[in-house]
Amino acid sequence: MSTRIAGIVSRRRRSQKKSHSTRLNRPKRLKMSDSGLHSSIMIPAAKPIIEEEEIDAVVEVLKSGMLAEGKVARKFESEFRDYVGTKFATVTSNGTTALSTALEALEIQPGDEVITTPFTFIASANTIAMIGAIPVFVDIEPDTYNIDPNLVEKAITEKTKAIMPVHIFGMPADMPRILEIADKHDLFVIEDACQAHGAEISGRMAGSMGHVSAFSFYATKNLMTAEGGMITTDNEELYDKALEIKNHGRGKQGGYTHYRIGYNNRMMDIVAAIGRVQLRRLPAVVEGRRKNASKYDKFLEEIEELTPQAERKGFKSAYHVYGPRLESANISRDDLVERLREFNIGSRTVYALPCHLQETYRRIHEWRWSKVVRFPDYSSMNFPISESVGRTHLEIPVQPGVTDENVEYIQKTIKKILSQT
Ligand SMILES: Cc1ncc(COP(=O)(O)O)c(C=O)c1O
Repeated sequence: MSTRIAGIVSRRRRSQKKSHSTRLNRPKRLKMSDSGLHSSIMIPAAKPIIEEEEIDAVVEVLKSGMLAEGKVARKFESEFRDYVGTKFATVTSNGTTALSTALEALEIQPGDEVITTPFTFIASANTIAMIGAIPVFVDIEPDTYNIDPNLVEKAITEKTKAIMPVHIFGMPADMPRILEIADKHDLFVIEDACQAHGAEISGRMAGSMGHVSAFSFYATKNLMTAEGGMITTDNEELYDKALEIKNHGRGKQGGYTHYRIGYNNRMMDIVAAIGRVQLRRLPAVVEGRRKNASKYDKFLEEIEELTPQAERKGFKSAYHVYGPRLESANISRDDLVERLREFNIGSRTVYALPCHLQETYRRIHEWRWSKVVRFPDYSSMNFPISESVGRTHLEIPVQPGVTDENVEYIQKTIKKILSQT
């Protein structure tokens, strides 16, 4: 076994051992059978909505014989563009390729710095590092979990080219302040709206405020196509570049003339067909999530131990995730998640390890771009708020399939578990 593989194995073993010993020390736990609480099936955190309409739409494309990106994708793009309120939109194979295509369209170069948050899905940071640019992490606000604009300005250097705010859990980042800072320092803003379909700030949709934005349609998302993505922008030049980059450097006319090195980041029409149906459903999905979230918010007013993610005035979350923080409780976050799961409540933690604590960034010197680009030593960095939210947040099912009875059951269960610790 190589030393590196041996190291990974022993690290895994250590963490398995740790969870085993926590198990042994646990107090006697409340069981579904003796609690008076019951749910016969797991209430999942995420559940894709697939109905006859989605199936029919896919079958229609299959029968047409035109399966790859084409007419259906064009329709999906124009409908999505109208929904978000931008001039242009183009489909991609997923949210990661939407972000990476957008970064390349902005001509971010190896060694350029892009400011982003460490409290996000790793793709936000990885798409920056993928092209040899440097992710510069800036800590988050403790209440919204979004990048803290007060810290963004301090992180700007002469190498900074762009800011990538992420609307985490569907809660819009403070775009007005971020855009102001970007404007002052002549920087691009790439909105990572991968979790924020349907989120708004004062009537402006997430994904319509930055120079360019990226959406993901991964299977758990508010609008899902299993895998899929979209780039939105008001800038025609960026749009044209994105079209080339995502399609092997072909011009708009297609064919076999190529103008730049590009990729195959296209979306199949089979997938776009699902997206069109899901887009029609999206307003109701967001409303359903918001309705459940507001019930939890109200409930948590009387639960001292749990604090919801803050939704500021004028900001409207799409509640991709409902993720309160557990603070000053007699039970650990991990134990609470585990107990909720024992009660068939699909709770989980999402970003327990913020990006800078992931092995990817701790060992950035192994990344091939490190031969030509000097990345910072992420392993010596601390982002205390991201780390604290990472340690304390938990996801509670908020998706629209969660019924009023489910919400009531979840609330009662939380109350009971917390009162018995
Ligand atoms: C914030 C964020 N950025 C980027 C991505 C990447 O999207 P995808 O998984 O579709 O590649 C995701 C997906 O979960 C995400 O949540």
